[in-house]
Amino acid sequence: MKSALARNVLAVVGRETPRLPDAAALLSAVPVPVVMLDGQNRFRYANHAAEQFLGMSMVQLLQHGLADLLPRDNPIFQLIEQARQNEVTISDYDLSLQSPRLNKQGITVQASPMHEEPGAVVLVMQDASSARNLDRQLTFRSAARSVTGMAAILAHEVKNPLSGIRGAAQLLESSVTPADRELTVLIRDEADRIRALVDRMEVFGEKPIERGPVNIHRVLEHVRRLAQSGFAEKIRLHEVYDPSLPPVDGNRDQLIQVALNLVKNAAESISGAGMTNGEITLITGFQHGMRLSVPGSDQRMHLPMLVVVRDNGPGIPDDIRANLFDPFVTTKPSGSGLGLALVAKIVSDHGGLIEVDSRPGRTEFRLHLPVVHDDGESM
Ligand SMILES: Nc1ncnc2c1ncn2[C@@H]1O[C@H](COP(=O)(O)OP(=O)(O)O)[C@@H](O)[C@H]1O
Ligand SMILES: [Mg+2]
Repeated sequence: MKSALARNVLAVVGRETPRLPDAAALLSAVPVPVVMLDGQNRFRYANHAAEQFLGMSMVQLLQHGLADLLPRDNPIFQLIEQARQNEVTISDYDLSLQSPRLNKQGITVQASPMHEEPGAVVLVMQDASSARNLDRQLTFRSAARSVTGMAAILAHEVKNPLSGIRGAAQLLESSVTPADRELTVLIRDEADRIRALVDRMEVFGEKPIERGPVNIHRVLEHVRRLAQSGFAEKIRLHEVYDPSLPPVDGNRDQLIQVALNLVKNAAESISGAGMTNGEITLITGFQHGMRLSVPGSDQRMHLPMLVVVRDNGPGIPDDIRANLFDPFVTTKPSGSGLGLALVAKIVSDHGGLIEVDSRPGRTEFRLHLPVVHDDGESM
């Protein structure tokens, strides 16, 4: 006969307890850098993202303290000490983690004491710029939408009176003195110029795009040929392609337009700076994890196709960065400022995303696009 105690023990053992996953394995899958420090700020653990973030493997980190990586006056030490002393979780925003080894800015750090191990603190570090990127991306989208509306109004309201003006000037031309004819010709020419601008704007109009499987490498090849036989004749063009990519789900002509505008800007930036060692690199790749939530809905986009246009020009001027994708934003004497607005519009029509990363000597426009036959959730 079993005692009551034994029965209880059996009952507990016999109950199906779910097997818990290994905590380290769990943490290593988290894409956010997480480290654990002991009471002397020596590394006791770093997940995979932290290894990448800090540029050291866990084995290396275990032989170091945080003070080997960062100067002692870095505010992160104060943050850690506060969390340790007060036994509460504390966050600090926009920290700079800078040293000869490390160069990170705008980092959000959260320090939490580990109650199981006295003195130990867990740090979670997040690069706020990735969140900011997404923010900016969303503003680009609304800029694209406002272009759409404006294009429709412009096309409708400007074109008709414009042809009236042009016709009238043409009529006058036959009856005025040669000196005045110069003026009527001026009116005609300027009317033509406005018309051309409006025509260019009209491509922003709200027409549903025809989509199908597009070989992105053919698109880029086409653009490369255009560039090398024209505006980028003297600039070296590199291609770093992933040949195994599936077709993009998109519109070929529009994707050519996107790539062309980006490559043209890159070339203009290089030649504008008078560089002789200018280089443009076209890169394609597949990103399994590229999934983004659409704000305000539970939709998720899967955008595994990555297309990068990189140049080694002087970079995007600071003062236009915030409005880069707005129409009419240009730093060129005869620029239209419509190139990137159109890029944003087309990419957004494709359900894609565009990101920019620019510093002197390296500017990257990164497109994320949907592919055909995507097993993941698409738009
Ligand atoms: N690759 C680049 N490098 C540096 N600046 C760039 C680059 N691409 C775009 N820009 C900046 O963005 C501005 C807007 O570009 P865009 O919309 O194509 O209009 P536009 O080329 O007519 O000026 C450019 O005038 C330039 O200042
Ligand atoms: Mg341009």
